[in-house]
Amino acid sequence: MRRLRREDWSRRLTAENTLTVNDLIWPVFVIEGTRKTEPVKSMPGVDRLSIDLLVDAVREARDLGIPAIALFPVVEPALKTPDARESANPDNLVCRAVRAVKESVPDIGIFCDVALDPFNSDGHDGIVRNGEILNDETLEALCQQAVNQARAGCDVNAPSDMMDGRIRAIRTALDDAGYQHVQLCSYAAKYASAFYGPFRDALGTGGVLKGDKKTYQMNPANSLEAIHEVMMDVMEDVDSVMVKPGMPYLDVIRQVKDAFGRPTFAYQVSGEYAMMKAAVQNGWLDNDKVILESLMAFKRAGTDGILTYTAVEAARLLRQMGGHF
Ligand code: PBG
Repeated sequence: MRRLRREDWSRRLTAENTLTVNDLIWPVFVIEGTRKTEPVKSMPGVDRLSIDLLVDAVREARDLGIPAIALFPVVEPALKTPDARESANPDNLVCRAVRAVKESVPDIGIFCDVALDPFNSDGHDGIVRNGEILNDETLEALCQQAVNQARAGCDVNAPSDMMDGRIRAIRTALDDAGYQHVQLCSYAAKYASAFYGPFRDALGTGGVLKGDKKTYQMNPANSLEAIHEVMMDVMEDVDSVMVKPGMPYLDVIRQVKDAFGRPTFAYQVSGEYAMMKAAVQNGWLDNDKVILESLMAFKRAGTDGILTYTAVEAARLLRQMGGHF
């Protein structure tokens, strides 16, 4: 076996997978204000950005060749209500961010989350009544949110709420409103995971969350159920699907890709990022090598694209390496 590994040219020639900038989707946290950045303590190297600085950062990402970003708004506590109505406000933070980016950097794709948690005073992705997360009432709110984001100019609505039937409902609402071209990327197999902790710090949704998300997000024990989830979304006419978290669920990515062959994305979530960066800060891991190896693992598992907080760093590294790893 070692003959093939002896020289660099031969290792390159026999590589089964490659990582390029075209595999990267960059998630960004947006805040109110101007010229404002706020570091996320539990995610070293990640800052929340006001819209003006976001536009600058996205321009740099576009210049590096990153195909798409995913926007997550940090909503002021006073705007959070039990019906999450701020999610349907055409002038809410995420809509203003989408319009600003589209105006200055029109050629990068914009993903927007569809879920109520940033806007919900209960911190849940759905509407809560008597402690219960209501499915069908939530669907109506999600449809309004998705249409609102489409009107602002988002290219991909990415429902991350894990309600049943949301892909069909949102597709119909988008089509009826004239947004047939807006894609749907479902967080199809999204697990009830402890790896989302730093994300909830970043958005300030962790402090308000009542209880957990186990009645809608998946049980980490299951993978056949992930196939069922993806099958439902494919039947409901989804364009692409996502598995989340990423590194602890590479087996699920592979099963989903093999079963459906659809565009399959994975989210290297906040806790995965935090683990790597904490070890790097301690001098225990090599930053550049561990980032690239972790992203390559996603490619080997069958992903078409990776949502990763390392996207800009990784794109710079890939450029230094001649475009691919
Ligand atoms: C909310 C949402 C979450 C993430 C993306 N969208 C958190 C959650 O479900 O509580 C997690 C992303 C990350 O941890 O990086 N619907």
